[in-house]
Formats: sequence, structure tokens, C-alpha cells
Amino acid sequence: MFRSIVAAALVAGLALVGGTAGTARAEGDAPHPPHQKWSFDGVFGTYDRAAMQRGFQVYKEVCAACHGVKHLYFRDLAQIGYSEDQVKGIAAQVQVTDGPNDSGEMFQRPARPSDPIPGPFANDQAARAANNGALPVDLSLIAKARVSGPDYVFALLTGYKDPPAGVKMNPNMYFNEYYPGHQIAMPPPLNPDQVKYADGTPGSVPQMARDLVSFLAWAAEPTLEERHRAGFKVILFLIVVTGVFYAAKRKIWSRIQH
Ligand code: HEC
Repeated sequence: MFRSIVAAALVAGLALVGGTAGTARAEGDAPHPPHQKWSFDGVFGTYDRAAMQRGFQVYKEVCAACHGVKHLYFRDLAQIGYSEDQVKGIAAQVQVTDGPNDSGEMFQRPARPSDPIPGPFANDQAARAANNGALPVDLSLIAKARVSGPDYVFALLTGYKDPPAGVKMNPNMYFNEYYPGHQIAMPPPLNPDQVKYADGTPGSVPQMARDLVSFLAWAAEPTLEERHRAGFKVILFLIVVTGVFYAAKRKIWSRIQH
């Protein structure tokens, strides 16, 4: 009985530390994205606040023209190291629709920390209409929704190439090594020095892609650090309990004559 409880708790602890795998998707003939080193990898993994803030800046200045992050609220940005006043300032730069007012009309007002971060389009139809029929997916869960999500997003953002000889490209499509089918409707979104980082980090394409991935990994799993901490507490507790029970067992059995 005791053993099975310990085993079940150990499994729970390991699950908390290790986490669950991402959801599978048919990958077509795209090569597996090369593995990158991330600060949030492994059981000791944590998020890099400075990288996440840079990544949010790239999202805001580049990706937000086409992609939403609908699961995030402005107040969530406090978790990536912004102060309460900074969060208020970031929110206030964005206009959101509210209402109806006393005369029954909807109106625009600056966003507040309690508002969800609004996406660029009113609905999927409008998003497709602006992108030659292709849908720019919501990015809040992309790092979990794809196999090896962080590596995939990094590879995709840095994987644009000229199509090899003999490959026929469809109109308005771009060759990307890591997109299933190699033809993607998203124009290469990152160009060198497109973003001027406040902390002076040079804005190379791989740097911006890495920072974006740090931000998107957190967006998809904001509780990773808590989960790692809880898992360790459970495992530590089990080690202590095992020691106590072992000592008790030895004491009890020492009274029995062999
Ligand atoms: C001009 C609009 C536009 C911009 C800007 C843009 N994207 Fe896209 N993105 C798209 C479209 C459209 C698609 C869908 C592509 C398709 O269906 O072929 C897409 C697809 C993607 C995908 C693939 C999703 C999947 O299904 O696997 C990712 C990841 C992505 N974008 C990330 C980004 C990031 C990160 C940025 C900012 C650096 C960005 N995008 C900027 C339009 C855009």
C-alpha cells in the first residue's frame, strides 16, 4: 500500500518536473528542426526575462501586424519582468473597443492591464482576406502546439531560402525549408536590424528569432517555473519520507532475533 502511494507520487513529481510533450501534427516532408539550447530546457529550466522582453518587443513591432496572442492579457506581462507602471504604459498605447455607452454605441479607449491583448484582425475572415487567403495563426500556444515547438519556430523564422532549381513555387508563396510542403504564405518576417533593442543587443535575424521563441515559450506555458519547483518539492519530500520509513523499518526489525 505504502509503496504504491510512493510510486504514484513519484510519477506525479516526475511529471511536474518533466512536463508533457507537445501535440503531434503531420509534418509532411519538412526536416526535423535542429535542436537549439534554451534556458527553459531540462528540469532546472527557467525563463530568461531579458530575452522575453526583447522577444515581446519583436512580437509587438513585427508579428503583431498579422498574428494575435489572444490567450495573453496585458497584466500577464508583469511575469516577464515589467513593473506595474510599465504594464500600464504598454497597455495604454493600444486602443480597444469597449461599450456600449449610455447611447448604445461602442467606443474606443486605451487598453488597461485587465484587457486581453487585442489581435490585428476582427475575425479569421478578415485575417485571410489580408493575407491572400492564408490564416496567420494565433501565436499564444504555438510553442506547445507544434512538435519541438521552440526549435520549429526558430528554424521557420530563420529557414527562408531561394527555392532550389526545379521547384515550382505557387503564387504569393515563399520557400521555407522547415514548413510542411516547403511553401509558406508568410513573407520572411524578419530582416537584420529591423528592431532596435533598448538594451543594445544587436538585432540580427537569429537573435530576434531566439528572443521571440523565449517570449512565445513563456506565453504557451507561463507556469513552467512553478511546475519545476513543485516537482522538486514533491521529490525531495519523497526522499525524506523514504529515509524515515527505512530507519523505522530497521529499528523494528532489529528487535527480532535472527
Ligand atoms: C504579413 C503578415 C505576417 C507577419 C508580419 C508575420 N506572419 Fe507569421 N504567418 C503569416 C501567415 C499568412 C501565415 C500562414 C502561412 C501559411 O498558411 O502558409 C503565417 C504563419 C506563421 C507560422 C507557422 C504556423 C504553423 O502553422 O506552423 C509561424 C510560427 C509564424 N507565422 C510566426 C510569425 C512570427 C514569430 C512573426 C514575427 C516575427 C510573424 N509570423 C510575422 C503572416 C505573417
